[in-house]
Amino acid sequence: MKKILDLIAEQMRTAFEGCGYAADYGKVTLSNRPDLCEYQCNGAMAAAKAYHKKPIDIANDVVAVLKNCAQRGEAAGAAEDGCGNGAAAGTSVPADGAAMPPMFESVEAVMPGFINLKLSGEYLAAYLDGMRAEDKLGVEECGGGKTIIVDYGGANVAKPLHVGHLRTAIIGECIKRMGNYLGYHMIGDVHLGDWGLQMGLIIEELRDRKPDLPYFDETFTGEYPQEAPFTISELEQIYPAASARSKEDETFKARAQEATFKLQSGYAPFRAIWRHIMNVSLADLKKNYGNLNVTFDLWKGESDAQPYIPGLIKDLTKRGLAYESEGALVVDIARPDDPKELPPCIIRKSDGAALYATSDLGTIIERERDFAPEEYIYITDKRQELHFIQVFRVAKKAGYVKPETKMTHMMCGTMNGKDGKPFKTRAGGVMRLENLIREIDEAVYDRIMENRTMEKEEAEDASRIIGLAALKYGDLSNQVSKDYVFDVDRFISFEGNTGPYILYTIVRIKSILAKYEEGLAAVPAAGNASAAGKPAQDQTDAANADTPLSGHMRPAQTAEEKSLMLKLSAYNDVVAAAFEEKAPHKLCQFIYELSDAFGSFYNTTMILKEEDAEKKAGYIRLIRLVKDVLESSINLLGFEAPERM
Ligand code: ARG
Repeated sequence: MKKILDLIAEQMRTAFEGCGYAADYGKVTLSNRPDLCEYQCNGAMAAAKAYHKKPIDIANDVVAVLKNCAQRGEAAGAAEDGCGNGAAAGTSVPADGAAMPPMFESVEAVMPGFINLKLSGEYLAAYLDGMRAEDKLGVEECGGGKTIIVDYGGANVAKPLHVGHLRTAIIGECIKRMGNYLGYHMIGDVHLGDWGLQMGLIIEELRDRKPDLPYFDETFTGEYPQEAPFTISELEQIYPAASARSKEDETFKARAQEATFKLQSGYAPFRAIWRHIMNVSLADLKKNYGNLNVTFDLWKGESDAQPYIPGLIKDLTKRGLAYESEGALVVDIARPDDPKELPPCIIRKSDGAALYATSDLGTIIERERDFAPEEYIYITDKRQELHFIQVFRVAKKAGYVKPETKMTHMMCGTMNGKDGKPFKTRAGGVMRLENLIREIDEAVYDRIMENRTMEKEEAEDASRIIGLAALKYGDLSNQVSKDYVFDVDRFISFEGNTGPYILYTIVRIKSILAKYEEGLAAVPAAGNASAAGKPAQDQTDAANADTPLSGHMRPAQTAEEKSLMLKLSAYNDVVAAAFEEKAPHKLCQFIYELSDAFGSFYNTTMILKEEDAEKKAGYIRLIRLVKDVLESSINLLGFEAPERM
């Protein structure tokens, strides 16, 4: 569906044109004075300069045309008097094919030259009917199947998933879901860190712990065992022990470096250990990401880039793009207009070791070969800014990526503790994701149990769902690039701009809808409404039992109802903007405002007690659309709502 702002702008453009002004002045925005109007057009001010007229005169001209058209029941169009038929003016037609009602309830020119607009209740209701009739609630598929690779997650194999990886996973999942919803072909790749020093550390630690393993017997010629020589809990213990040891023990560190190098050069016994490490960790990582409702299309990693690296280095060297500098091989990436000088990208260190940037370039070559995406989106901590500038520039300079391919690095701010420093455990260590999630779930559980009577099992299930929403919304509601404070008490609050508040709104609507349906169902079954303990009024509903939701949306009767309807109508615009601007917080802000608008409507309207059955059915249609929009939004954000809370 066309965005409502665009539909209004179309009318304004034709009205400006009809008065002899350029159509471009017909821009429309949401009003910044909601007390005065709903939308506004400031084009008359800009036009005043070009046409040497007073802005208010221009505004009056345009308003006159709009009023004239409205009286004749036509949309503003390109005909001589500025009116035309609705179709020519691009007015959309509601799902059932009826023509759209007139757009405005009021158009007003006010000093010094603003045009204030209010939508007609009928038009707004018809627009929402259009949303109800569409698969994606009116969101237009603008992606056209274009392929976009989203590189997010970025966990490092054999190291526990920690909160540093939380943001990229949560944000990436949301970007991927929004893109798919908009009709892009999103390919999510976890891009594991599976090729670094941690592997050598584990190998050498393993050698010291289990020297009799065949991997360490150089004379061994048989097949290596299928079974891993460690469990996940052993592995989780081996890595931190080895890492701590390498900080004190230089010889051990040198051994680990040597082992890493041997692994990277293809030494068979170490490759065999590496495969065991991968198998054991991958199962665990998948479980952890699964708990976050995060999934990937590709489980590739740095290791997959390695086969491309020798060719890459040869190519860059042969074409004179890479050159030796202090023993290392580098590519210049600085440009004269850079605000500060950027160091060259190192492709190979003097000791010949593989580098992070080289891996990323190798990965790009593979991705171009396999997918030739139209866009790349990388999501990491903001400390990797320089790395991605270097990688993107080399990829473009060498022509590995087409000049028109978009390469975006979404830089995440840090998740801080209440002390403003990067989040740590109480003991000061790196917080493991599992523990963090458990902490939130338990806090939610306590909150639920405080004042509700729910069976333990249901409360536990609900806590997991609500806890995840609290965590994800707490993250996504902040601008991606900003640091934020991780505050469990605030995140799990059922009030304010939080995940649980949104879920609470959904659950509340679901319960109203269920009661409404019970009311409808009870009557024919009992044969007698009063006998079933239902108010007699429900009999009227029963008469309409097959129609309440198939009927039309009704024009708003109160300010609260209108605000709610206006909010809903912005859904397609918000989803498109949140994706385009890579700003999930805009979708969060929208559902927060929508939930608030629902709250005000609910507080001022007797929904189930309404005696007029058709009016009541109208309320039900409206709040059902609110629920659908909220549910669809949280699905894009990557969480869901419980049945009760
Ligand atoms: N493993 C990396 C880290 O933990 C993140 C990987 C991000 N993706 C990439 N293509 N470099 O920092």
